[in-house]
Amino acid sequence: MKRLIAGAGVGAALAGALVACAPQSATTGRALYDQYCQSCHGTGGKGDGPGGVGLPHAPADLTQIAARNGGTFPMVKVMSVIDGYTRRGDRASVMPELGPALQEGPLVLIETEPGVMTPTPANLVALAEYLRGLQG
Ligand code: HEC
Repeated sequence: MKRLIAGAGVGAALAGALVACAPQSATTGRALYDQYCQSCHGTGGKGDGPGGVGLPHAPADLTQIAARNGGTFPMVKVMSVIDGYTRRGDRASVMPELGPALQEGPLVLIETEPGVMTPTPANLVALAEYLRGLQG
């Protein structure tokens, strides 16, 4: 599967081609979550969805991502986990391949490292923003 978040940064010249963050991003994030994630991670993100029962690893509690990261929600890291999940070598992941579903639609520029703007699918951003809103 092709990585959604390209490694290379892009210059400011591309900025004019960008699609601004859509106001319905929160709705989009929730709809994507309900469709692709809540079966395992649960409606509230606590990792208690029926699809997680009997898996070799329990689905992560997605409301505690910030808490596990010293109180900061690691937006870029979360996006790359979702995008590149199946390439994490340390565990045989049971997460489905989500790339194709999240790749549809426009790209937005995200600062993935200080000073590095990376075109990123708006759907992936919306989903990560939805997860940020779940932090308890
Ligand atoms: C088939 C069940 C399943 C589905 C569907 C699923 N996940 Fe997961 N997810 C897991 C499991 C199990 C883990 C933890 C175990 C592991 O690391 O392999 C996990 C871990 C994660 C993590 C890492 C959390 C951390 O703090 O390390 C994130 C983020 C995540 N999932 C987001 C999502 C999102 C977003 C979706 C929907 C687009 C999704 N998952 C769909 C099963 C699933």
